[in-house]
Amino acid sequence: MLSMKNIVKKYQMGEEEQTILKGIELSVKEGEFVSILGPSGSGKSTLMNIIGCLDSPTSGEYVLSGRVIAKLSEKELAKIRSKEIGFIFQSFQLLPRMNAAENVELPLVYAGIPPKERIKTAKNLLYRVGLENRISYYPNQLSGGQQQRVAIARALSTNPTILLADEPTGALDQKTGRQVMDLFNELHREGRTIIMITHDESIAENASRVVRILDGNLMETE
Ligand SMILES: Nc1ncnc2c1ncn2[C@@H]1O[C@H](COP(=O)(O)OP(=O)(O)OP(=O)(O)O)[C@@H](O)[C@H]1O
Ligand SMILES: [Mg+2]
Repeated sequence: MLSMKNIVKKYQMGEEEQTILKGIELSVKEGEFVSILGPSGSGKSTLMNIIGCLDSPTSGEYVLSGRVIAKLSEKELAKIRSKEIGFIFQSFQLLPRMNAAENVELPLVYAGIPPKERIKTAKNLLYRVGLENRISYYPNQLSGGQQQRVAIARALSTNPTILLADEPTGALDQKTGRQVMDLFNELHREGRTIIMITHDESIAENASRVVRILDGNLMETE
């Protein structure tokens, strides 16, 4: 479903050139739950942005669902981002002036889905993440864990090929983080492909496969 070959990412800062990713090799199969574990500054978000087609590598080949990403136009990339990838961030990134259902519906508005259908989908997904009694609540009326579950429902709304999560429990306490991980485990059992980035060993262990990133290199772990 996803394959990266010799992915290099360099940043030019004035005179100095820094190589953040030094030849990443990564394959993820459909239905896998992979976590990418690494310390701060190791290049996790840089890698996530490339996986999510938000950024392009300096060199190397990235193939997602059979398409060579470097060959696509900005318009085609935008389509992949909105249809194939469900993003989940540490800071939830919900829109404050929209309630839970409206936040979940938003990607479907962009996808041109008619109101009736998208309202139904949003309700089903909020039910799915255990928030059926919070459908009309605004983000500031929800706990951190509830906001993250709204964000997960939103990420699922377009039925994406991959769920891509960058430190999804980073802003949550241990118990709430645990609940979010239980939800990820359920989604994995239902056959979702999940790629999760974290610096937390105990969070990473939820995945069926843990890959380590250190100084721009990836290593498989047992
Ligand atoms: N746009 C940029 N320009 C220059 N350097 C950058 C840029 N983005 C990231 N970097 C550098 O790349 C390195 C890796 O950053 P990245 O955000 O990928 O780390 P991370 O593993 O996600 O860290 P954290 O766990 O703290 O989120 C850092 O040293 C950072 O300074
Ligand atoms: Mg990061």
